[in-house]
Amino acid sequence: MPRFDESFLEELTARADIVDVVSRYVSLNRKGERYWGLCPFHGEKTPSFSVVPDKQFYYCFGCGRGGGVINFIMDAERLEFADAVAHLASLCNMELPERGDGGAADFKKRLCAMNAEAARFFHANLKSPAGAAAVAYLQKRRLSPATVTRFGLGYALPGWNTLSDHLRRLGYTNAEMLEGGLVRKSERGVYDVFRDRLMFPIIDARGNVLAFGGRVLTGDGNGQKYINTNNTPVYSKKNTLYAYNIARKTAEKQMILVEGYMDAVSLHQAGFTNTVASLGTALTAEHAKLLSRTVREVVIAYDTDKAGTAATERAIGIFSENGVSMKILRVPGGKDPDEFVRLNGAEEFRKVLAGAEQQMDYRLRTAKSGADLSTEEGRIAYLKAAGKLLSELSSRIELEVYAGRVAEETGVSRDTVMAEADRLRRAAFSRERKKEHTEDLNPERLVQPRRDSGVRYADPAAARGEEELISLLCTRPSLTAEAARRVTAGDFTSPELGRIYGALTAEAAAGKEPDVNLLSASLAPEDMRLLGKILAADRPHRGTERELADVCGRVARRRTEPDVDPLLALRDRKREQQTER
Ligand code: UTP
Ligand code: MN
Repeated sequence: MPRFDESFLEELTARADIVDVVSRYVSLNRKGERYWGLCPFHGEKTPSFSVVPDKQFYYCFGCGRGGGVINFIMDAERLEFADAVAHLASLCNMELPERGDGGAADFKKRLCAMNAEAARFFHANLKSPAGAAAVAYLQKRRLSPATVTRFGLGYALPGWNTLSDHLRRLGYTNAEMLEGGLVRKSERGVYDVFRDRLMFPIIDARGNVLAFGGRVLTGDGNGQKYINTNNTPVYSKKNTLYAYNIARKTAEKQMILVEGYMDAVSLHQAGFTNTVASLGTALTAEHAKLLSRTVREVVIAYDTDKAGTAATERAIGIFSENGVSMKILRVPGGKDPDEFVRLNGAEEFRKVLAGAEQQMDYRLRTAKSGADLSTEEGRIAYLKAAGKLLSELSSRIELEVYAGRVAEETGVSRDTVMAEADRLRRAAFSRERKKEHTEDLNPERLVQPRRDSGVRYADPAAARGEEELISLLCTRPSLTAEAARRVTAGDFTSPELGRIYGALTAEAAAGKEPDVNLLSASLAPEDMRLLGKILAADRPHRGTERELADVCGRVARRRTEPDVDPLLALRDRKREQQTER
């Protein structure tokens, strides 16, 4: 199997959202946490093919095919691993990495290394006398030294060439600095983009410094309060969220989404480490997908000014389109989250957070506040807007509840409100149907069903515990290193589950958190299929230390239990002999 650069595979599987990819072949419908469709691999009339977006896996309950996005391409296009990777890369407009020196991957690495040097330089400036004003500014904004360190904040000196001179001494060329967006061209060489600014490095999940935002130290700097790195070969705004590198590790089920650098940093400092910022740029589908992989729900906590309200509307649209659950938080008093938490403290913010609204409550309230219900025109305008909003509800119960509320507010009967919502819903549905019809399945893609779907476990009871452990680690990869200390692959009674566990723990042994979707590089398709089946069961996990201890205990106990099936013990011994050899 040809080796791909690991960071390339990471980027590929991060970009190739499984729902998008599968949707090219199958029309999927969302039900709860997963999508369903007719299996493209065997003929069927009722959908048994499922895709689990948060785990980025698919599994067919009919024919037993399953795996990650690369496996799907292998199955659908009948390709070997390497060819499937190439195919997927072209679907995602990604170039295959070139090998050796001078390749695109090496160039990106070099830009990231240069950015890391720049971040180090900015940070060190805070400790120099020239950085005193920046330090004072940080104190004024109540950011602690620990926060400054955690976010790698820094200061760009006022001169025109302090950074570029520093980087040149380290061997970086003007061309590299230009590509990285750190300098601009002038008639006599280059000059630094960031001067006399507080610096926020933008860091990805792997710890690469991709870009910077720089804030003026005084006031709002007439229109140029912040300047940001433009897109570069390593930085694309549409794929990046500020503080995601820290926030993605959260154990919370929610992610708080704010507008600005300061909002994110402040909330982290106040203990809300599940916060990311979309940095004033419009939220994208890529951002939404990134978030939906980490958490179940996003709380939109944008500013309450006009721009923030418009951005909230857009964000609601993006999250709905991408099937991400959300709530909307409006910080009271016209403050942004940073100011609010600084003035009122974390506890008050926690209360406001608990009061975040469901989108329907928020949108109805907004529609109502824009209409004068004391006039007929106002009531009609509100009823029309409300009917449109209610038409999006798929639950009959919710529809009745909200329609009842709107009826009360306007003095129209609930049935009339519901009828209007139903009418708009039918209209939208038939538009949708027409569109789907033209994107129908290509019959050539259908292949023969495989009836030999399941694995037969020698010890089903033990295998249940082993599956449980694998499922837990796929849900909470950060527990893998600890699991590896308690249980080894050799403790498994099922060789296939042992292989999957081995692949997960090998990642942890290399100091990485396993990414389930990357396992298709090291596991055979059959094992990925089994993993797909395990994940499709969607076991609930709390992901606590306690749960880990329990599940590991169940697996390890099997090994030491005296009353094991003698046949099984014999097989175990055989296996041990094999591995010794
Ligand atoms: P805000 O103006 O709300 O700034 O812009 P802020 O985050 O509250 O910052 P402070 O509290 O005044 O320091 C929100 C975000 O929009 C982007 C930045 O990412 C900022 O954090 N922005 C804003 C720019 O890129 N450029 C600007 O000139 C202003
Ligand atoms: Mn602010």
